[in-house]
Amino acid sequence: MAERSAPIGVMDSGVGGLSVLAEIQRLLPNETLLYVADCGHVPYGEKSPDYIRERCRHIAGFFHAEGAKAMVLACNTATVAAVADLRELYPTWPLVGMEPAVKPAAAATRSGVVGVLATTGTLQSAKFAALLDRFANDVQVITQPCPGLVELIETGDLTSLALRQMLLGYVQPLLAAGCDTLILGCTHYPFLRPLLADLVPADVAIIDTGAAVARQLQRLLGANDLLAEGPAGDARFWTSADPETLRTILPVLWHKSDDVQRFAL
Ligand code: DGL
Repeated sequence: MAERSAPIGVMDSGVGGLSVLAEIQRLLPNETLLYVADCGHVPYGEKSPDYIRERCRHIAGFFHAEGAKAMVLACNTATVAAVADLRELYPTWPLVGMEPAVKPAAAATRSGVVGVLATTGTLQSAKFAALLDRFANDVQVITQPCPGLVELIETGDLTSLALRQMLLGYVQPLLAAGCDTLILGCTHYPFLRPLLADLVPADVAIIDTGAAVARQLQRLLGANDLLAEGPAGDARFWTSADPETLRTILPVLWHKSDDVQRFAL
């Protein structure tokens, strides 16, 4: 049985999951957080489910060995590829995955047209098709894969002209089709909210699931009597690419941290 003061492992293909880490820290300030950015293998969105499953197994094994009391897949693409596999491997370990916010978007839209920005891997998955079947029968959902966006965000670029043009190219067809609700179905994209606010009309709602994931984690920890009483230890980071690169980007997307190590698996 894990201790309440044990850390929580959070992972993503890269820096996108930091948008979820921020929500977790806001809701659960007593928790100690470990974060693995699989930057040596980003983007997951264009990789096979088998490849992603293998990466997630390595990272889950690492968190488990570090004594993490729970794990969060702060990545939509990793969740569709690997969450079932990890649940089978670790049946009693609290594990939180995430999925695009189709249900709240279908409830919120007034025009009846919802747009989803996500990776190719997420949009092509059977899990996403099942999500649409379940919650989006009464609305029109237009999906838009966004290759290239993640790679730019990984460099810490949130404002360049190239990024702006790429994002506009993805969003414009959705707006032209009458979409009034936009789902950010990849954890990298919440970092583009300021840019999106510039590109889409103010009455278009933009929804992501970071806060919902933090609430689900809170519920799961509570149900397992694992909520920490604090104080939290400092967040620690690992990356499968060059630690110096993550060290440089962290102050842009999170806070400064020198506790960045190489993830060698
Ligand atoms: N951040 C990820 C997601 O939520 C995946 C990005 C990628 O590596 O393609 O889907």
